[in-house]
Amino acid sequence: MYLITGAGGQLGRALAAEFAPEGVVALTREEWDVSLPPPLLETPEVVLHAAAWTDVDGAEDDPQEAAAVNVGGTTNVASLGVPLVYYSSDYVFDGRKREPYVESDGPNPQSVYGRSKLHGEAAAGEKAWIVRSSWLFGPTGHNFVRTMLRLGAERDEVAVVDDQRGSPTYVGHLAAATRDVLPLPFGTYHVAAGGDCTWAEFAEAVFAAAGLDCRVRRISTAELGRAAPRPAYSVLRSERGAPALPHWREGLRDCLAAIRAVAVPE
Ligand SMILES: NC(=O)c1ccc[n+]([C@@H]2O[C@H](COP(=O)([O-])OP(=O)(O)OC[C@H]3O[C@@H](n4cnc5c(N)ncnc54)[C@H](OP(=O)(O)O)[C@@H]3O)[C@@H](O)[C@H]2O)c1
Repeated sequence: MYLITGAGGQLGRALAAEFAPEGVVALTREEWDVSLPPPLLETPEVVLHAAAWTDVDGAEDDPQEAAAVNVGGTTNVASLGVPLVYYSSDYVFDGRKREPYVESDGPNPQSVYGRSKLHGEAAAGEKAWIVRSSWLFGPTGHNFVRTMLRLGAERDEVAVVDDQRGSPTYVGHLAAATRDVLPLPFGTYHVAAGGDCTWAEFAEAVFAAAGLDCRVRRISTAELGRAAPRPAYSVLRSERGAPALPHWREGLRDCLAAIRAVAVPE
């Protein structure tokens, strides 16, 4: 049996769908707040730990709460004593490189969120696959694609950052690739979509694919003025034989198809 934490989140939902045939116990925050010790449950074979504090800007104001979830929560998950997949982030890097980050590159997080995710990697312990991914999106929850679909339907123009480059990763592809990580030795793996783009390029692709007539005004990160610093460049690639994911454009197609196929609850 696979235990999934954070099962109400966008990745948690994709994992629950992907691993359903094997048998899953998928716990939302209400069912297990991971900052508390584990509830009594049947011992799983593997934990897919998708619960996290993901409010990157909010973490700057509340570093202790972010750490309580991302570090303390991971310690609690590891206390189950079974192998676990810990999902980490491109935000563990400072973004100064101009070629893809590989697993042997040294992390240097610039934000509270990035530091909490890096400390969470250590808290995952020895029996863990650390799966670093980037710019997640899917048919549910808070993500860039859903925000652009909403704004693109309401406005003629949106201002979008054009000086951050990364690989937008579809949660369905990351969930499927998790299956291919499990036979690998424990350790750190970069698992992100193929290709890369800026947020502005991604927004244009969303509007084109969805048939929305909305212009993208390219702005800088400084103009947007968010609380937390973001890496200017955070493309992830694997030098350790991690599964290669489809291109982000394929992820976008699959995500829009999933949105069209069902009326997804908020
Ligand atoms: N989103 C990205 O771009 C991105 C990029 C790289 C890596 N990641 C990592 O990928 C993983 C999944 O992210 P995601 O995009 O699926 O995030 P998400 O949609 O925000 O899902 C996270 C889930 O964790 C839950 N949660 C928060 N605090 C919790 C707690 N104390 N106990 C139990 N559950 C709690 C949230 O519940 P509430 O909604 O009720 O708070 C939410 O359902 C995270 O580890 C994240 O750091 C994300």
